[in-house]
Amino acid sequence: MEFDLSQTDALLSTTRAVRKRLDLDREVPDEILLECLQLAVQAPTGSNRQGWRWLVIRDPEKKEALADIYRRAGADYLSSQEREVDPNTQTGRVIDSANYLAENMGRVPVLVIPLIIGRLGQPGVSAPGLFGSIIPAVWSFQLALRSRGLGSCLTTLHLGLEEEAAELLNIPDHMTQAALLPVAWTKGTDFKPAVRPPVHEITYLDTYKNPIRPS
Ligand SMILES: Cc1cc2nc3c(=O)[nH]c(=O)nc-3n(C[C@H](O)[C@H](O)[C@H](O)COP(=O)(O)O)c2cc1C
Repeated sequence: MEFDLSQTDALLSTTRAVRKRLDLDREVPDEILLECLQLAVQAPTGSNRQGWRWLVIRDPEKKEALADIYRRAGADYLSSQEREVDPNTQTGRVIDSANYLAENMGRVPVLVIPLIIGRLGQPGVSAPGLFGSIIPAVWSFQLALRSRGLGSCLTTLHLGLEEEAAELLNIPDHMTQAALLPVAWTKGTDFKPAVRPPVHEITYLDTYKNPIRPS
């Protein structure tokens, strides 16, 4: 099987955290969500356990309650960033965008919480094994959304009040929420690659003392 690299590379390099360009007014059908989740569950998991579960939230009251949890859990972080970061820098723009999302989280058509069976602190449950068995699927879900004209943003701020969200949504105690993803059609699909350092500056060969040299 040959891939069209221009397409796959564009997908991988332009799947961004979308906040201000989420279309708050266009309905997202279940069919598309399930298609994207079906692709997501092709992702790897530790011991092939596939202990993932997906919670799709559409109910306006539940979404607003979750948005309120998100804002309360994220308030200190967001306001400290707003004070400390120059609004004209890339990080400043991210904070502005993050504040917009916090204000509008309850209006996004669909919120998705990826869940994983297990809790940190249980015997045999490690952070790499637990989160490493759900985040690859989350990213595949985001890629599948992007390739269909939808967007999302991996968020974790509400996890500061994870228990409150679990109570709201009847999530059992033995499950861990990995994130909260607002999902919507995007306004336009022309996203650009982010500015990132050349990887040879952050890649080493054989020993951490030996930066790799591009050939
Ligand atoms: C582990 C993780 C947690 C994140 N948590 C949040 C969050 O709570 N709220 C938010 O608006 N963005 C969150 N983000 C999105 C990042 O801010 C975003 O990925 C980053 O600014 C880079 O933007 P890009 O994904 O478009 O390259 C999170 C991303 C990751 C990977």
